[in-house]
Amino acid sequence: MKALVYHGPGKYAWEDKPKPTLSRSTDAIVKILHTTICGTDLHILKGDVPSVTDGRTLGHEGVGVIVEKGEAVTNFAVGDTVLCSCITSCGRCDYCRRQMYSHCRDGGWILGNRIDGTQAEFVRIPNADTSLYHAPKGVDGQALAMLSDIFPTAFECGVLNGAVKPGDTVAIVGAGPIGLATLITARLYSPSRVFMIDVDDGRVAVSREMGAAVVINSKKENPVDAIMKLTDNVGVDVSVEAVGVPETFDVCQQIVAPGGHVANIGVHGKSGILRLEKLWDRNITITTRLVDTCTTPMLLKAVSAGSINPKHLITHRFKLDEMHKAYETFGNAAREKALKVVLSAE
Ligand SMILES: NC(=O)c1ccc[n+]([C@@H]2O[C@H](COP(=O)([O-])OP(=O)(O)OC[C@H]3O[C@@H](n4cnc5c(N)ncnc54)[C@H](O)[C@@H]3O)[C@@H](O)[C@H]2O)c1
Ligand SMILES: [Zn+2]
Ligand SMILES: [Zn+2]
Repeated sequence: MKALVYHGPGKYAWEDKPKPTLSRSTDAIVKILHTTICGTDLHILKGDVPSVTDGRTLGHEGVGVIVEKGEAVTNFAVGDTVLCSCITSCGRCDYCRRQMYSHCRDGGWILGNRIDGTQAEFVRIPNADTSLYHAPKGVDGQALAMLSDIFPTAFECGVLNGAVKPGDTVAIVGAGPIGLATLITARLYSPSRVFMIDVDDGRVAVSREMGAAVVINSKKENPVDAIMKLTDNVGVDVSVEAVGVPETFDVCQQIVAPGGHVANIGVHGKSGILRLEKLWDRNITITTRLVDTCTTPMLLKAVSAGSINPKHLITHRFKLDEMHKAYETFGNAAREKALKVVLSAE
């Protein structure tokens, strides 16, 4: 089969690789119908994720059909169309029993990291019963692929941890796919106003189309001053960090209102400052989280019911074997006006 294989920083190829086989009775082999590229894959290609070694097939998002399964897999049958979760979980360990699947002792984020991933014609999914989901009837497969990672990430780390409530004011720093999915899922809770902050005019414009009340280009105006002015110097009930750099976390902690929440989503590689001298008496909550994908069943229902439409985030479509072109496009997202790119088998 063909797979997108990592060969060390800056090096990758769409090349021949043996088709995966069952290694445990709880495994399933999935033929990929749709997959996508995540910002994390670009981090891997830069060499930022040392657990990914030479020869690894990348990708932790996808929709496919089960072509083989171990005898212990009972929730799924050969021929079923499934969503692959970016988080693999055993469903039985102490973390899984608390729905902290991201910290599963026999899983977590392993796909396209410690084991071969979904950017391939076939993928082996361990603990298939608890790591796959049935594709709801009538839901577009490409839209479904947005539920492997970005929607649960935005919803769990941003909206749920931020405790967004009806009437709240919400500021989201970073209007990439994750920030935009946070905007889409925050609106399920009827916040009064959502402010989006980004440095890219293209993404600022998309945020407006997706329902942000006010959009701010933080290259052109100071985002802290702008938010304080918009909220009569009170700040917002919820600020969400969806970039992953110290500056944007700093914006979030400066714009949070007393009693509010700062919900961090971004993956950080550097330490930042915590303004405890300003925050100690403000009754705020700061949260961090690795996506657990424990809300995937709820998100599947929301997509089936039409209350969220993940398809809005797909800007580019490719055939599976156009992987290099897709990486080029996604790697130059600002220039290409790309949000999510989808690669499909047919
Ligand atoms: N916690 C988790 O489990 C989890 C899971 C998946 C992704 N993530 C992280 O979420 C973050 C967002 O992911 P994404 O795919 O949307 O990334 P992305 O790179 O596509 O989007 C980031 C956005 O931030 C904007 N930006 C950059 N610098 C900025 C600044 N100083 N001020 C305002 N905006 C700025 C960019 O223009 C871009 O639109 C990343 O750090 C990613 O690694 C976390
Ligand atoms: Zn991802
Ligand atoms: Zn577990």
